[in-house]
Amino acid sequence: MTMKKFVNIATLATLAALAVTIAPLARAQDTIKVGVIAAFSGPFADYGKQMEGGIKAYMAQNGATVAGKKIEIIVKDTTGPSPEIAKRLAQELVIRDKVDFLAGFGLTPEALAVAPIAEQAKKPMIIMNAATSIITTKSNYIARFSMTLPQVSAPMATWAVKNNIKKVVTLVADYGPGIDAEAAFKNELAKGGGTVTESIRVPLRNPEFAPYIQRIKDAKPDAVFIFVPAGEQSIAFMKGYRERGLAEAGIKVIATGDLTDDHVLPAMGDATLGVITTFHYSAAHKSPENAAFLKSFAAANPNGGRPNFMAVAAYDGMAAIYEVVRKLNGKIDGDKAMEILKTIKFNSPRGPIAIDPQTRDIVQTVYVRKVEKIGNEVYNVEFDQFANQKDPGK
Ligand code: PHB
Repeated sequence: MTMKKFVNIATLATLAALAVTIAPLARAQDTIKVGVIAAFSGPFADYGKQMEGGIKAYMAQNGATVAGKKIEIIVKDTTGPSPEIAKRLAQELVIRDKVDFLAGFGLTPEALAVAPIAEQAKKPMIIMNAATSIITTKSNYIARFSMTLPQVSAPMATWAVKNNIKKVVTLVADYGPGIDAEAAFKNELAKGGGTVTESIRVPLRNPEFAPYIQRIKDAKPDAVFIFVPAGEQSIAFMKGYRERGLAEAGIKVIATGDLTDDHVLPAMGDATLGVITTFHYSAAHKSPENAAFLKSFAAANPNGGRPNFMAVAAYDGMAAIYEVVRKLNGKIDGDKAMEILKTIKFNSPRGPIAIDPQTRDIVQTVYVRKVEKIGNEVYNVEFDQFANQKDPGK
C-alpha cells in the first residue's frame, strides 16, 4: 500500500467513525426527549393508555416542534404497580436515552420509587396522575398536574354535612391515596359535626367487595364514602351495591370521581345513576377548552373511548413541558425548568389550574357532580364547585 493510499483510508475511517459518533449527538441537540413511565399492560393498563392518549391529543393540536426542537416521546411500560420496574426504567431513560423530562406515573408507589432519580439527575418529573399528598415532597424536581386525594376528598365531606349526611362508613384502597382520602374525609366530616363510624380498607389488587358491602349494609350509615383506584374495581363495587340493595336501605354512595371515572362510566351504565362525587375533571365539563380537548382526543385516538382525568392531566402536563421548552429556547436545565413550572397557570379543559410555587402541587377547582343521563349516555354532571383548592395537607 502506498503512503497516500493509507492516509486516505485512515482519513475515511476516522471520518466514518466521527460520523457515527456525531450523528446521534447532532440529533440529540435537535430533540427534546420526554420519558413516559406508566402501566401500559396488566390491571392498570388503561392508565398508560389514557396518559398517552392525552399526550397525543396535545401534540396533534399543537404540533411536535417547539423552539425549533422536535418533541420525542419515549413510552415505558411498568406492567405495574411495580416500583422496582419503574425505578429501573427511569434509570435507563436518564442514563441511556438522556431524556430531558420524566413524565407519566399513574400509581403512587411508582412515582415514589422514581422521585430519588429525578432528584439526583435534576430531571423535571411531571406527575400525570399519582395522587398521594406526600409525593411532591420527595423531590424538588416534581411538579404535579393531576390532583391529590385530600384535595378532592375534603370537599366531599363538606358537601355531605351540608346535605344532612352525618353518619358515614368509609371504604378505601389500602395504600397511599386511599389512606389520604380516608383521613381528609374523616377530618372534614368531623369539623361539620359528622362521624365516620367505620373505616374499611381493601387490598389494592383484586379486592373481593361482597363481604365489605354486607358490613356497610349492617352498619346502616347515611352514606358510604369510597376511594378505589379508577378502573374495573368501580364496576365490581357498584354491581355489589345494587345487588345487595344498599340504595333501597337508604345508604347513599358518595366518592371521589375515581369511582365514576369517565373512561369506565359508560360500561358501568345505569348502576351509577345518582352517585355523587367530587373531582377536578368531568368529560361533561362545559368550556371551549374542554370542547377542543374532546375533539382532539377523539381525532388522535380513534378507538380511545371517552378520555378521563388522567388524559387531561397528561394533556396539561404536555402544555407545561411545551411552555418550559419555549421559555428556555430549547436548552433544558433542570433548575431553570422548575422555576418556570412553578409559574404555570392556564385554563385547562377541567377549568383554571395553577402550580403552587411553594409546593409544586396543583391548585384547581373541585366540582360536585351527580351521575345523570345525557341522551342515552351516563355522565358526571357538575352542579356545584369549590374554587382554588390546594392540597389541604400543605
Ligand atoms: C395513585 O396510585 O396515586 C392513584 C391511582 C388511581 C387513582 C388515583 C390515584 O384513581
